[in-house]
Amino acid sequence: MSEPERRNDLSCPIEQLHANERLKYHSDFLRGTIEVGLADPVTGAILEADTQLTKFFGIYQQDDRDLRDDRRLAKLEPRYQFMVRVRMPGGVCRPEQWLAFDALARDTADGSLRLTTRQTFQFHGVRKRELKKHVQGIVACGLDTLGACGDVNRNVISTANPLRSAAHAAAGELAHRIGAHLLPKTGAYRQIFLGEQPAAGVTDQEPLYGRTYLPRKFKIAIAVPPHNDVDIYAHDLGFIAILEDGRLIGYDVTVGGGMGMTHNAPATFPRVADLAGFCLPQDAVAVAEHTLGIQRDFGDRKDRAHARFKYTIEDRGIGWFREELARRLGKALAPAHGFRFESSGDPIGWHSGGQDLWHYTLVVENGRIKDQPGRSLMSGLREIARAHKGLFALTTNQNVIIAGVSIDERPTIDALLRAHGLGDESRLSGVRRASLACVALPTCALAMAESERYLPVLIDKIDALLADANLATAPINLRMSGCPNGCSRPYLAEIALVGKAPGRYNLYLGASAIGDRLGALYLENAGERDILDALGPLFAAYGAKRLAQESFGDYVIRAGIVPAMMRSSDFQRIGKTGP
Ligand code: HEM
Ligand code: SF4
Repeated sequence: MSEPERRNDLSCPIEQLHANERLKYHSDFLRGTIEVGLADPVTGAILEADTQLTKFFGIYQQDDRDLRDDRRLAKLEPRYQFMVRVRMPGGVCRPEQWLAFDALARDTADGSLRLTTRQTFQFHGVRKRELKKHVQGIVACGLDTLGACGDVNRNVISTANPLRSAAHAAAGELAHRIGAHLLPKTGAYRQIFLGEQPAAGVTDQEPLYGRTYLPRKFKIAIAVPPHNDVDIYAHDLGFIAILEDGRLIGYDVTVGGGMGMTHNAPATFPRVADLAGFCLPQDAVAVAEHTLGIQRDFGDRKDRAHARFKYTIEDRGIGWFREELARRLGKALAPAHGFRFESSGDPIGWHSGGQDLWHYTLVVENGRIKDQPGRSLMSGLREIARAHKGLFALTTNQNVIIAGVSIDERPTIDALLRAHGLGDESRLSGVRRASLACVALPTCALAMAESERYLPVLIDKIDALLADANLATAPINLRMSGCPNGCSRPYLAEIALVGKAPGRYNLYLGASAIGDRLGALYLENAGERDILDALGPLFAAYGAKRLAQESFGDYVIRAGIVPAMMRSSDFQRIGKTGP
């Protein structure tokens, strides 16, 4: 790309941009003083400014919020620790990589593994003194953490399980190609965390990003209809596989989706992506590169709350985007081909697909892998990884697929599942199977309310209401986030709870079951009793009056309980609609 087109460094004096822009600009391609902070034995933290830079390497400084008060009273610094996120395009790893992660979780993290809502692993509780060793352990098994957070393209996700069909394999392969193409080129990661020496005479270059990288994070997803498990409309850029007679002919392209917002700030809102057009398979990487380039050049670098690509698209329009992309690509996208989504969930338990292969989706409640009495998830998956010859495929619904099992190997996997108290998916209610929660407390500094630790308890109570309404197996999706940033993609859930304060949530209803319509605010600042009192009568009415195949999200709109959110920018303008 020619230099004048890259407006990110040149459009405006750096002094007038957001502080993070100045930080990036002066960071020497993301080095900052990370090395100095890591070497300081006096504190468990690194320097404040560097905490922004380590995000580009998949590393978030956190502290254990449960311990904050006690430590303050004891005049100790917070218990600083790091979250480390793996970059794993398409969410796939081999059994030996699973075993390496399992060992790392126990050796240098908090003993658990967390499956994220964007198809990768997170480690929590890594101490500063172990950080390099931990990252090196990830790199040693053939993966890395580069670009897993920060203002760059993040882990590229795709419809789960490349072994399920040729189209799934193609989607996974495209996720790898795009992920590799959009990686930052700075040598800082390898030098700081892997101890590599810079090659003599070689200086850092970021031909794609420039020295201020992107205005904010950028997220790409690839879907294979009829499944919208990746929540394509929640992403900055989406590729939807178009198949003819089972053969991949190209991708419909979506742009401008995103979840995060701020409570009571009407200029911020979640947004479902727009359909931009159709591209051929061989053009997909270039479409990704130039779309990212458009956001690099036109994204807002003064106001970070307005810096996501969704606002660039909302402000300038999809027509503008199509023209700008065509100019950079040298050709226009073709008209969108059209597709049909039927679900956004995972196929649970055993299912077949691919060349005489079987796959088992194990429900991992809220993505947390650890042993519990009667259900030894972490040990069980370790034993399965020792026996399994296929792959592990993480889903964006925080589940894991034991993928590529031959019919002869099925009994071994079944026996291991049973031996560890697993494989009981059919006993879980529809809501529990389809639920998602972000991490929130105690590690996330932004959490306003509990999420991962509370949702299972709340679901026990919701399950009782559903059973009363004969809806125990209804696959209603319910998502909880500890704050409005929306890491569990709540605004696209049929029932969403978004944290406002300890024990208080905003309740949203009316999103579609296939992920193409946002919910509307129904109750504000609701406690548990308010939530259950609101949901009970709605479940009873839905159980009695729903049409065949009608989802809960569609029902509450047909019944006039909430309005259909037709435009994202209405999201904050249409106030609370509930009782
Ligand atoms: C724009 C505002 C956002 C901010 C500031 C933010 C920040 C964070 C932070 C601090 C964490 C770490 C929590 C922990 O592990 O303790 C986290 C986790 C995560 N976030 Fe976000 N996030 C935002 C929006 C989103 C959105 C919209 C998505 C996805 C659509 C997302 C996906 C994730 C994922 C996958 C994780 C890993 C844990 C999980 O699965 O919940 N984030 N985020
Ligand atoms: S939604 Fe908020 S509380 Fe939950 S992980 Fe994301 S930033 Fe933290």
